[in-house]
Amino acid sequence: MTDQQAQPDQELGPVLVVIPTYNERDNIGKIVKRLHAALPKTHVLVVDDGSPDGTGQLADEMAAADERVHVLHRTEKAGLGAAYIAGFNWGLERDYGVICEMDADGSHAPEQLHRLLDALPKADLVLGSRYVPGGSVVNWPKHREFLSRGGSLYSRIALGTNLRDMTGGYRAFRADTLRKLKLSTVASAGYCFQIDLLWRTLELGFKVVEVPITFQEREFGESKMSGNIVREALVRVTKWGLRRRYTQVKGLFGAK
Ligand code: GDD
Ligand code: MN
Repeated sequence: MTDQQAQPDQELGPVLVVIPTYNERDNIGKIVKRLHAALPKTHVLVVDDGSPDGTGQLADEMAAADERVHVLHRTEKAGLGAAYIAGFNWGLERDYGVICEMDADGSHAPEQLHRLLDALPKADLVLGSRYVPGGSVVNWPKHREFLSRGGSLYSRIALGTNLRDMTGGYRAFRADTLRKLKLSTVASAGYCFQIDLLWRTLELGFKVVEVPITFQEREFGESKMSGNIVREALVRVTKWGLRRRYTQVKGLFGAK
């Protein structure tokens, strides 16, 4: 089966791809077109935080011309995490069986989405992974790859998992998994939202599977990564890690 022919597993129900956008005018049209070329039946929800460059209006025009495209407008830039939560809730109120995360900037190839969907029948959450065999990163500046690999390694040690790519943003959730994650209590605003959701999923005992993806750095526009985003992740992951150790130790004594 080629990447183009693949279709999502029918049993899991309709697939929604949530795409958060902030100033992605040069990217959003292309990515949705590629997605529909690869997987014609998937629906898209663009979650735009009032982008000054008019991404929201463009998405509205796309939605008016294509019933598979939907748009959620938010008034101010409130972070990737908040945008995803709003998007997930939108999807959960409708009858989607699968809800995916994908960046707008072309870093996540829509032609590879079927890899995630194909693995979902045997998992509760599938991670598109840059750091398992077959996965790769193309055109990322060295410092970004270092930060990403370092962030994943730190999270893996702090949280005690074997997962290789804990910060990535290319994912497929069963809607039923998301329903159990208590999304209303997620406080992570920036990219540590990714680790937050993954950690919640693991703590509930759900099965998480990694499949290889090729992450390609964007051609147009800018990354929204910042020092604050890194600091938030470091503080929160450390806190979750310490809480995990504390619970372990308490368990040891409690067992006596
Ligand atoms: N609505 C909204 N609001 N969208 C946002 C915001 C926000 O505050 N911040 C970022 N986005 C959107 C971008 O427009 C893009 O579609 C997507 O979120 C990813 O943002 P980028 O700024 O392109 O992320 P990156 O390339 O630096 O980071 C990638 O790697 C991270 C670390 O592995 C992404 O894949 C992240 O998801 C990932 O955590
Ligand atoms: Mn990007």
